[in-house]
Parts: sequence; structure tokens; C-alpha cells
Amino acid sequence: MCGIVGYIGKKQAYPILLEGLKRLEYRGYDSAGIALRQDDGGRLAVVKTKGRISALETLMQGRDTSGTLGIAHTRWATHGAPNDANAHPHVDGSGRLAVVHNGIIENWAALRQLLESEGARFRSDTDTEVLAHLFARYYDGDLERCVQQGLQEVRGAYGIAVIHADEPDVLVAARNGSPLILGVGEGEYIVASDASAIIEHTPNVIYLEDREMATMRRDGLRTATIDAVPTHKEIQQVEWTLEQIEKKGYPHFMLKEIIEQPESVADTMRGRLDADAAEVHLGGISDIAKQLTHARRVILTACGTAWHAGLVGEFLFEGLARIPTEVEYASEFRYRNPIIDEGTVVVCISQSGETADTLAAMREARLKGALALGIVNVVGSTIARETDAGVYLHCGPEIGVASTKAFTSQLVVLIMTAMFLGRRRHLAPQEAREIIKGLQSVPEQVRGVLGLNEQIQQVAAAYKDCPNWLYLGRGYNYPVALEGALKLKEISYVHAEGLPAAEMKHGPIALITEEMPVVFLANRGLQYEKVLSNMEEVRSRGGQVIAVATEGDTEIRRLAKHVLYVPDVPEPFQPILNVVPLQLLAYHVAVLRGCAVDKPRNLAKSVTVE
Ligand code: G6P
Repeated sequence: MCGIVGYIGKKQAYPILLEGLKRLEYRGYDSAGIALRQDDGGRLAVVKTKGRISALETLMQGRDTSGTLGIAHTRWATHGAPNDANAHPHVDGSGRLAVVHNGIIENWAALRQLLESEGARFRSDTDTEVLAHLFARYYDGDLERCVQQGLQEVRGAYGIAVIHADEPDVLVAARNGSPLILGVGEGEYIVASDASAIIEHTPNVIYLEDREMATMRRDGLRTATIDAVPTHKEIQQVEWTLEQIEKKGYPHFMLKEIIEQPESVADTMRGRLDADAAEVHLGGISDIAKQLTHARRVILTACGTAWHAGLVGEFLFEGLARIPTEVEYASEFRYRNPIIDEGTVVVCISQSGETADTLAAMREARLKGALALGIVNVVGSTIARETDAGVYLHCGPEIGVASTKAFTSQLVVLIMTAMFLGRRRHLAPQEAREIIKGLQSVPEQVRGVLGLNEQIQQVAAAYKDCPNWLYLGRGYNYPVALEGALKLKEISYVHAEGLPAAEMKHGPIALITEEMPVVFLANRGLQYEKVLSNMEEVRSRGGQVIAVATEGDTEIRRLAKHVLYVPDVPEPFQPILNVVPLQLLAYHVAVLRGCAVDKPRNLAKSVTVE
């Protein structure tokens, strides 16, 4: 997720663009840049830098910032590290056409190859630069047409703004899958990723649809589909405050991040699944595929929520790739003097890529000769830089301290990575295709599960004052039980414990009273009957059973007071769907208890100290 903003009008563009970037900074903040069309000399002045908007502002001091047409960008890296070269805007070979982009171009590698074979020289590792060269390929004095023609060849998600030095009266914008809004002023337009960069200037906006583009001139605007069919747009009024816009109208970032999981898991898979070839394309590990294929042991290491993802990963790696796999807390691993040999692959899972214990575990593993992989969200973070190879989550910045969408994306990456290895070891193409099909259905299934929100709110209201909770699951769902309990602890300050369901009878069963909510992950699957017996044990002692269960399972109503139904999916996919109701449950309990959901007491988003 990045932020883009563009301006065309009579005013000076620079202050408007800069202010807009600051408003959009919450969308991403690892590098920033600006392109201004300067009246003097008719050239584009492009300035970009690694770092936050303030770094760009410093760099602009003393420079000529004149111009009434410009585009700007705040980046959250997906392709290529956050550095000056990869910062947007990107320009074509002539330096006269500039593009800013939010999204992921899926077929960028093929397009880049084609453009390079025709002589284009790339200066960055980004997917976006492809757009600049591609549009330039079609440019014959009409910016609108070259963007429209170029986009015919592009697959993926984009919100873009494009300018050309030769056309001082044109700003072109287009969207597909990434948000883009046009602010309509008097003789001026502002285009931005969301209304926060616009509302200071005008409440009048036009929302572009997918595969739609707009050509803005100072005296008017034209919209069309990217297949050049004209469209008619209504001007609408924005009524949200700035804070509401950043949170997309949700009261908390955490809720926003829970609700955006259908999109974030789709972004994680984007361009990586190839059902025809029964293959996943993971650019970050393809160069070491052979080494991975011959791995003898995998150690997954992480902290907190990422460690829970690792526990699911153990099942996936052993199940799909048949590699002996262990999971260890990074804080323990680093001091245990672990035995590591050449065939050991250590996989570090971390949203931030900066967690001190995970980083130290990775360094220790490398020192001892392991091949170290990273499964990381923040591109260019320390873990991402120091590992030998890795797979990014691409799920956008996670701002709420309690990790939600990063967890589901970690699960998706672990499935893809296990499959990547599995295909090279023993997994048959047909099995791989089934998994790909399963993955492709996940975003819509998550969307369906989010429909439980109101029911979950009622459950939360019924139990919000209970001081102790238990979460129980088996197999793939044991880590989900841990994660559900952690979410509740983190944000509502209620004591909760997650356990393998069968362990309950070895001690925790003594805790069960009528005041004890017990959340069961009870999907149909290998251990379903056994989970039902555990449920019976809780019920007979008066515990309040809340069950996450498979749609259509009416039997379970006999045992559970509340049933949260999720779709019937194969076991490896169950954690992704099951965790969503538990995230919502923790969220609502915390809200009802008046807790600071996004910034829980004593917790930090990224723990960079021991
Ligand atoms: C902190 C956060 C957790 C997170 C853990 C690991 O404890 O509060 O939400 O799971 O760090 O963070 P990482 O960035 O390495 O995934």
C-alpha cells in the first residue's frame, strides 16, 4: 500500500502535493518523491528519496519548486528495497514522462523483458518503472492515449497518476483494484489514494471505478474505461473527518485491518499462483530452489503472533513438503546453541522485520551455516536485508499493535512456500492445483466470515466481564487457539489461555466454572469427534461453550451455546478462516471494556530490544 497524489490547476502544486503526502503517510512511509512540471524550460523536476516525507521536504529546500502540475508518492515497498532509485515517481528513458503508482503489477517481469529487449534502460527494481517505459512506447504526443493503450497490456492492481513534460495541461489517472479519488475544484483537480489529501481543498469528489481512467485539464475532466468507452461520473460530497478517512471510517486501525483481510490475503497471492503449471512463483526464493529442495530440516523461528503462524507452518511444511520441521521461539533459539548443519533451513517470520530476538536468531543461524529465509512484511527491513532469501507478505502497513492481517498473510505465504517445496519433492501436480484452487477461494471466504461481525459483537457483550477465558483447538487449529487467546490478552487485558484441546483434561479442566467462556475450534476434520468429546467435558462442568464450526454442522448446537459458522475448507486453510472470528471477538471485548485497542498498554508494535 502506497499513497499517491497529483495536482493540476492554477495554484502552485508543490505545497498541495507535500501536504497531501503528509496526509497519506499512514499508507506507507519508507520513501517519497515528487515530479513537478516546471513552466521555466518545460521540463520535469523529479526529486525522490528514501525515508519519510520529512526527508523529501528537506531535500526540496532551496530547490526550484515552481509549477502548477505535479505528482507525488509515499511508498510502502513491494518490489525492490526502499532506496532512492526505487522511490517514485518513475520516468521513461527521456525523463519527460513520470508515473506514480499504488498497487502491484503482476506481469511486470514479462513486460520488463519485452521493454528491455526493445532498448529500454531500467534504473530501479520496481514493477512501476515498467509503466513509465510502457506508456512512453506508445507516446506520440497524446498522454491520455498512450496510458490507455499501455494499460491494455497490464495485469495487476494499480492506482496511477501520470504527467508528461510536453503536455502542461494534462494529468492522467487510472485505477484497477487500488483506490483512487478525484477532487474537483474551481479550475483545478487533485487526484489521491484517499480523500484525506483532498478534503482540505474541496469536499467535491469523483470515485473512479476499476478499469476506469480520467484525463484532467484545467478547464475540464473526461473519464472513460481503459478500453476507451466514455463514462459519466457524478460528483459526490465527502463528509468524513481526516481521522475517519485514514481509518477508512472504522473507529480503529485494528478493525480496519481485520476487515481488509479479503484484500490483503489477495495481495499476498497476487501474481504468485499458477494453476496451469501447478506452481507458485516466489521470486524471492526461486534462485535457491535447488538448495531448498535438498533441505533436510526446517526450523521456523519468530515471536508473538508470527510464532503462532510458524506453528501452523510446521504442519504445512511436514504435510505438503514432507520436510522434518520444528518451531522455536526466537528468544529461546538464539541462546540454546542450536545444532545446525548444512541441510538446515531457518525461516524467520516477522511482520516488522525488526524484532530483536528474531533478528538475533537469524544471525545465529547464519553464523552456524544455515540457509536463512525471511517471511517479512516490511520490505528492506533488517531481517529482509540480512536473510539469504525470502518471501514478502505484501499485505500493506499494519498499524494496529495487535497483529491481524499480517497473521493471515503469513499463513498464506507459508502455504505457498510449503507448496513451492512440495512440488520439488513429492507433491503431484493435481494436488498442487487443488491447493491453488483452495487459496484462490480464500479471499471470498474471509469476506463471508466477516459477516459474523454482529453475532460476535453479541457474544462479546455477553462475556465481556468474564475474567478468564480458554481457547481450545487441535492439529492445525491449536495455533489458532493460541492466537485467539493472545489477541484477547493483548487488547482487552483479560486473562486467556490457548491449549491443545486434549490437554485440558490434564489440569486446566479444574478451572472450568459457569463464569468461564471456552472457545472451541471445532471444524469438521480429522479430530472433529475428539473435539466434540472435549466440548462435552466442558459443558458438563457448566462452562460456556463458544464454537467455531463448519457451516451446516447442526449437531454442534447441542453442545455449544454460541456457534460461529465458517465455510467447509480443507484443514490447511482452516486457520486463516478460523482466526478471523477470534480477532473480531477480542476486538469487541476490548471495545466494550473501554480499552485503547490500537495502542494497548505496555505493548509495542515492533520490539527492537531484548
Ligand atoms: C510484538 C507485537 C506482536 C508481534 C510480535 C512479533 O510483540 O506486539 O503483535 O506478533 O512483536 O513482531 P514481528 O514484527 O516480528 O512479527
